[in-house]
Amino acid sequence: MTSSGHQPHAPAAPVAGGPILEARDVHRTYRLGRVEVPVLKGASIAVHPGEWVSILGSSGSGKSTLLHILGGLDRADRGHVAFRGEEIVGYSPRRLDRYRNDHVGFVFQFYHLLPELTVLENAMLPATVGVGMIEWSRRRHEVRERARALLDRLGLSHRFRHRPAELSGGERQRVAIARALMRNPEVLLADEPTGNLDARSGESLLEVIAEQHRAGLAVVMVTHDQWVAARADRTVHLADGRVA
Ligand SMILES: Nc1ncnc2c1ncn2[C@@H]1O[C@H](COP(=O)(O)OP(=O)(O)OP(=O)(O)O)[C@@H](O)[C@H]1O
Ligand SMILES: [Mg+2]
Repeated sequence: MTSSGHQPHAPAAPVAGGPILEARDVHRTYRLGRVEVPVLKGASIAVHPGEWVSILGSSGSGKSTLLHILGGLDRADRGHVAFRGEEIVGYSPRRLDRYRNDHVGFVFQFYHLLPELTVLENAMLPATVGVGMIEWSRRRHEVRERARALLDRLGLSHRFRHRPAELSGGERQRVAIARALMRNPEVLLADEPTGNLDARSGESLLEVIAEQHRAGLAVVMVTHDQWVAARADRTVHLADGRVA
């Protein structure tokens, strides 16, 4: 976890003016028994380093599907997905794990917090992946402080010891953001991160993301909300399986 401190990651490869993350002509069809549901039908999106892109689209249009494919959590049936110009489809399982752990932060639409861990432990979790005992004992304090600081910024300092079941939807969403930012990713993939928040909590969450964005974080954010989308440098629309 040498890469989980406060310094940004060393680039995996030079971008040289190109996108940091790109999907090109991506197709994805789900099969439910004999029924085929084509969701993405040639979707393309290019995100440049430090850019904030919002994705709008009606429910079921494939926004989460596209985000999962960009994050290496789902595979395209056809098409290209490249991180810093390198096809992630060609990654070994180990390299793909590293991509997911070190380079992207993912905020799931439905949080995916671990129920048996506390708020603080959930936030710290990404920084514990692949860390030996000795390194962990050396870094534990710093990791905990970073998790506390992020949770505090998100208005959760009174919830450190609570478990997800004891939190509201909006509180869980904020823990998920802290977890995604824990390792200083280069790209944040956020699936409706303000979906369960009131205006004020939504605004403070966006401000935390905006702060990281100003420090160079690229953001791809799915939202239903025009007002939230407007925080981005650019908004794209997903419809009929393609990005318009
Ligand atoms: N694992 C799956 N198996 C089968 N069908 C799926 C699966 N995941 C998604 N789908 C289908 O793919 C379509 C797109 O789903 P997706 O979750 O990407 O939409 P979305 O744009 O994120 O919608 P929402 O705004 O409601 O979150 C939906 O019709 C959904 O039923
Ligand atoms: Mg979705």
